[in-house]
Amino acid sequence: MSKRKVVLIPGDGIGPNITTAVKKVVAASGAEIDWVERKAGLAALEEGPDVLPESTIESIKEHRVALKGPCTTPIGEGFTSVNVQLRKELDLYSAIRPVRNLKGVETRFTDVDLVIIRENTEGLYSGVENTVSPGVVMSMKVATEKACTRIAEKAFKYARMRGRKKVTVFHKANIMKLTDGLFIRKSREVSEKYSDIEYEEIIVDAGCMKLVQNPTQFDVLLLENLYGDLMSDLCAGLVGGLGVVPGSNIGDNRAVFEAVHGSAPDIAGKNIANPLALLMSCVMMLNYLADNEGEKHYTECATSIKNAYSKAVEQGATTRDLGGDLGTQEFADAIIERF
Ligand code: NAI
Repeated sequence: MSKRKVVLIPGDGIGPNITTAVKKVVAASGAEIDWVERKAGLAALEEGPDVLPESTIESIKEHRVALKGPCTTPIGEGFTSVNVQLRKELDLYSAIRPVRNLKGVETRFTDVDLVIIRENTEGLYSGVENTVSPGVVMSMKVATEKACTRIAEKAFKYARMRGRKKVTVFHKANIMKLTDGLFIRKSREVSEKYSDIEYEEIIVDAGCMKLVQNPTQFDVLLLENLYGDLMSDLCAGLVGGLGVVPGSNIGDNRAVFEAVHGSAPDIAGKNIANPLALLMSCVMMLNYLADNEGEKHYTECATSIKNAYSKAVEQGATTRDLGGDLGTQEFADAIIERF
């Protein structure tokens, strides 16, 4: 088979280091991937005025699939976040983030197995902010029937496809009666078409408490943008932190895969960052290619990589954040040794 072109955005901070590690593991798995490197974030500003250059967007539109390292958004300098912009421009309306325990990573709970499905395009991340009068600023929360319906459809379809049993909507419709009210109304309507899947609603603050008390009572979590963002980090904490949680941003025919964590400037350039979350995101990407393009080869590579990193983690061959003593590149080598 010929190599599938996939866009790779190394990103900033720890990004280039962890993407190098991931490329090494993917090459060792034999996956037929031809990386097309493009820039975003601070790396893009070295070459032009935009944090998200048109050439990067065009490349993802052309190849439809990308693996993205974390990007730094300069604070207070008028730049829109690369991630918010990317999700909007490509209409990557759903963030899908599986959260599972890994053997070898000690945590309070041992059998967490959740999937977060987050609406990616509106809510308080719509970027509609203005100064009402001196000293008074306002941010607008936006909800549309179209976006609420399609994210609910995504959650239920995903649940059915993966044999999941329950979808729980986290909301604050008791306070935000119109916006969160619309979100739960559309979720309820969609749930009626899926009688095989249990449907549940929970107020987001109570949901946080229940999650940290007993996460195993949840299965698929369906959330609007802000709650999904917050809950992703909370749930990452349940299974060992940001270094072990993968993520994807999926639209109708395009997808960008990335770890939940950021560019970690505090540890950049030290070869100590954990590449696992990005590698796990890459495994999701290979499975996506297999599901959407019918290439079994990618499932086989994804399974080999997953088995190899699971073994490495179980045997304690990891980076410092997971209790090991390996550097980023040495962790990648330890995974490759276990193929
Ligand atoms: P962060 O996720 O970069 O770091 C939080 C903490 O986790 C830090 O102590 C960091 O050292 C640690 N950490 C993160 N990833 C790690 C890894 N792979 N291995 C070991 N330790 C890791 O979050 P922070 O500090 O809030 O954001 C830093 C920058 O990243 C900001 O400019 C932010 O805008 C950006 N960011 C980008 C994201 C993306 O591109 N998807 C997502 C989140 C933040």
